[in-house]
Amino acid sequence: MSDRPGVDPVRRGWTCSRDVAAVDSTTGPLDMRLLNTRSPSVARCFDALLGGKDNYAVDRAVVDAALEVSPGLVTATVDHREWLMRVVRYLAQNVGIDQFLDIGSGLPAPENTHQVAQRANPDAVVVYVDHDPMVHSHGQALLADNDHTHFAFADLTRPAELLAMPAIARNIDLSRPVALLQGATLQHVSDGQRPHRVMAEYVAALAPGSYVAVSHLHRPEEAAHAETAARLEKLMLAELGTGWFRDREEITALFDGTEITEPGLTRAADWWPDGPRLRSLVPAQNLLLCGVGRKP
Ligand SMILES: C[S@@+](CC[C@H](N)C(=O)[O-])C[C@H]1O[C@@H](n2cnc3c(N)ncnc32)[C@H](O)[C@@H]1O
Repeated sequence: MSDRPGVDPVRRGWTCSRDVAAVDSTTGPLDMRLLNTRSPSVARCFDALLGGKDNYAVDRAVVDAALEVSPGLVTATVDHREWLMRVVRYLAQNVGIDQFLDIGSGLPAPENTHQVAQRANPDAVVVYVDHDPMVHSHGQALLADNDHTHFAFADLTRPAELLAMPAIARNIDLSRPVALLQGATLQHVSDGQRPHRVMAEYVAALAPGSYVAVSHLHRPEEAAHAETAARLEKLMLAELGTGWFRDREEITALFDGTEITEPGLTRAADWWPDGPRLRSLVPAQNLLLCGVGRKP
């Protein structure tokens, strides 16, 4: 795989790994110097797509440009979020997983991992991880009074460091099965940062019987969808400095070391839907693949 172009995250106003390490903090106060409101952020653009209020004009401008390329992106983003919550419910309720590591958790949405998991099992432990300072700030506010829910401000591309952080090491028992969520995160890891190596390190650290849930921007083979994917990727790299679409084979390889469970790597809407499909899919729903793998 070649390293596709991106924009220097520091220049874009992103929190870089070095910044994150410098202010590490599992529970410490937000360093406002890291909050750059002049440049768009992935977490805030995602929030805008989900209809949230934690975003700025600069984020909404990127979302508007993306919607011009693919008007169904709001539907596809909501569809993806619903998939992630179905996975959490399935793992907490049906499989009995009681520890969740939600990596690149994003800004709080109408339903979040701890709400879904703790509805099934009030003792379920959830640790959220993100490197966006606004997510850090909101995560702490949202979770302040829940003993089983924690937040780690960390860079997901450094698994060993991340897993050793106090919020994770103290609350997640890696000798027992864990659900590790990577919802639309690895698309923000460039080929040069080796997303497959990153995932392999996480999988190696998990106990047998653990699950990984991974979703990723997809570059489908069909020409029309592939063209939209290429246009969106160009836009994201220009505006956000990140956002790589990958093909099915590349996304499948992110599950190495696990067995992909039924129904396989699918569009979000096709992964164990809650009921019969009442509306036909919009083209944007072809631009993401989702799956769940079990470590044997
Ligand atoms: C597209 S959002 C997805 C949010 C949520 N996982 C979901 O699926 O609804 C991607 C999230 O990953 C976070 N992220 C991207 N790169 C990261 C990194 N290197 N370390 C930690 N978080 C990262 C972003 O800040 C953002 O909140």
